[in-house]
Amino acid sequence: MLLHFDDEERFAQQLAAAANLAPRRIARHRFPDGELKLTLPPALPPRVVVLRSLHQPNEKLVELMLAAHTARELGARELLLVAPYLGYMRQDIAFNPGEAVSQRIVGRFLASLFDAVIAVDPHLHRTGEFGAAVPSARALAVATAPLLAPFLERRVDDPVLIGPDEEAEQWVRAAAAGRYAWTICRKTRNGDRDVEVALPQMDVRGRDVVLIDDIASTGRTLVQTVHGLWDAGVANIDVFVTHPVFVGDALDQLRAAGVGSIWSSDTVPHPTNAISVVPLLAEALRRL
Ligand code: R5P
Repeated sequence: MLLHFDDEERFAQQLAAAANLAPRRIARHRFPDGELKLTLPPALPPRVVVLRSLHQPNEKLVELMLAAHTARELGARELLLVAPYLGYMRQDIAFNPGEAVSQRIVGRFLASLFDAVIAVDPHLHRTGEFGAAVPSARALAVATAPLLAPFLERRVDDPVLIGPDEEAEQWVRAAAAGRYAWTICRKTRNGDRDVEVALPQMDVRGRDVVLIDDIASTGRTLVQTVHGLWDAGVANIDVFVTHPVFVGDALDQLRAAGVGSIWSSDTVPHPTNAISVVPLLAEALRRL
């Protein structure tokens, strides 16, 4: 059985069909004071998958806590979480004394609720292994990069793939698949919406560029990189992000910077969705 929430109905139906699971909705009621009540199907099979993509994650973590405990009480013995976008992964160290290391805390919390966690391209810059972030016996990260080369082949002629920072190297290198030239920039983050991006040495004059990152949140990382690339004389810039979080005016800012196409995977529902991760997740469920 695949349990899901009303705001992920479409994705849930697709995943259920691909993974041969019965989709069932978790009903949500909000009390006047803001508290939540969840209602699950009253009888559950031994193996249950819960789908929850964790953008705007705070309330969803409470939902997962209520849903997982209730599912166990209703008969689930093996509980798997599919989180196409797994939030709270970027704060993976205390950058300043006293800061909570959210990745570790949220990862342990999810591992305490679920027997297995599957996520798409989780942000593991300094952590390396997904199992170190979510210390579950079965933490499985699936990658969108192998889908990118065939996707780009039909859309861009001999592009240079560029990542905006060192963290993006893993995705850009894998997406290039030995077929395309690639490089990365260096980023300095001074604040939530204040980043500086230094371009690499590669001569990109007259080239078509595809800018690739895992997450677009405020979009400032991409916008700053786009400005630099225009100054460097590129001919065209398209953008792919795995997780199109795009808060506030992020998408407008990116369009205003003059990019061509903006593509994303559907880990977060967004008008830019162009690549489905459903087959990857269905395959991961089969493997587990
Ligand atoms: C961080 O290192 C990520 O890979 C992204 O580059 C970052 O989260 C993007 O954030 P924003 O869109 O707010 O610049």
